[in-house]
Amino acid sequence: MPDDTLTITDNRTGQTYSVPIENGTIRAMNLRQIKTSPEDFGLMTYDPAFMNTASCRSSITYIDGDQGILRYRGYPIEVLAERCTFLEVAYLLLFGDLPTEAELKGWVHDITHHTMLHESTKMFMEGFRYDGHPMGMFVSTVAALSTVYPDARHVHDSANRLLQIKRLIGKVPSIAAMSYRHNVGFPYVYPDNDLSYAENFMNMLWKMVEPKYVAQPAIARALDILFILHADHEQNCGTNAMRSVSSAQTDPYLSMASAAAALAGPLHGGANEEVLKMLDEIGSKDKVPAYIKKVKDGGVKLMGFGHRIYKNYDPRAKIIKWTAEQVFEVTGRNPKLEIALELERIALEDEYFVKRKLYPNVDFYSGIMYQAMGFRPEMFTVLFAIPRTAGWLAQWQELITDPEQKIARPRQIYTGHEEREFVAMEKRTSGALARG
Ligand code: ACO
Repeated sequence: MPDDTLTITDNRTGQTYSVPIENGTIRAMNLRQIKTSPEDFGLMTYDPAFMNTASCRSSITYIDGDQGILRYRGYPIEVLAERCTFLEVAYLLLFGDLPTEAELKGWVHDITHHTMLHESTKMFMEGFRYDGHPMGMFVSTVAALSTVYPDARHVHDSANRLLQIKRLIGKVPSIAAMSYRHNVGFPYVYPDNDLSYAENFMNMLWKMVEPKYVAQPAIARALDILFILHADHEQNCGTNAMRSVSSAQTDPYLSMASAAAALAGPLHGGANEEVLKMLDEIGSKDKVPAYIKKVKDGGVKLMGFGHRIYKNYDPRAKIIKWTAEQVFEVTGRNPKLEIALELERIALEDEYFVKRKLYPNVDFYSGIMYQAMGFRPEMFTVLFAIPRTAGWLAQWQELITDPEQKIARPRQIYTGHEEREFVAMEKRTSGALARG
């Protein structure tokens, strides 16, 4: 018997099967041969929330959650955050290697020249309610771009895919900024091609009557670092949505809208906004022990803590904590930092959190920094979605070009009725709605 196999004995039949192990994985389809009779469908795996199922092969992002390691295309996140710009990292994620100087210049030029939105998109955004959540506006406007670029449905044409990639990375800051300006009732600001990716975003957010917007360099760099940290995170909820929807050969605008919709959830990218609400609710450092007690009693979750993959300090949270210090030198310290530091201190010593390996995740400190930079909490998840666009598109490319992938279609364990006799209206009993 070869070493790299798994022997399974089916105690229902006494029969033994051997299935190959590759990359520490067995193929679920190899279990289908395990049957009790020829009519039996065959064995399946049951894995709600994908706790132990690999859905793809990927060479983009590597995470070791126990060690707290994150690498894009093999490069440690700490090195990329220190040495690169966000667009350089986006290139790395999408094409597999860091760009040469000439390649980067061309890439930056192309992205910069795709930042404009069609005027009809601007009018579309004007239709949102004045106080609509910016993430709802972001998701809907990304989806609406599908109507502006119907050519995007040719997903098997690599040149076409590259064009849509440039469009999306170029346009997401414009959509994000417009959703903010719409919220506060300011006129939209057009992109400025002289500025870097982060500076131009700041320009579109905050330019008022000055003829030329000048970004504060430390803030622009901090924003660029945050973009790098959020650019990809392998098969998380949003990326899984991107892959799942794209597997139907849906165009990238509609697929990305679904990924962004997943990101909007409070257990995912929406957690940064929730952290700020939580810090507001706690109010002051001396109230932290009482709040921790509430968490331990099961009343609430400590937002910005815990992660499906990291069972150690999230490496991104470490870099954010360091970057926040640079930002606070310019903006002054956000008073909420004291509460957050105290929460972290107590939680990291407390048995409840230690036992469950709950550490601060990327969202714990990012909100405090964003707020110090001048962003409203409703914008936080939108700020996450801008750089994640590069990751979603890299994952999309990988999916489309992977010959093993097909339309994503999980199985289920049916728990409903066997075939039933139809019940005539006059014989029906009420209560189905109340039972849920
Ligand atoms: N506060 C208190 N307890 C927690 C927390 C938390 N933030 N997170 C997990 N736990 C507890 C759970 O109650 C559970 O305890 P139990 O074993 O006694 O039942 C145990 O830790 C394991 O937690 P699960 O919910 O099983 O872990 P899962 O991997 O399913 O969830 C998640 C991960 C969703 C991130 C969770 O930790 C959470 O809700 N955290 C708060 C929200 C948050 O910060 N999300 C951002 C994640 S990063 C991102 O998406 C960008």
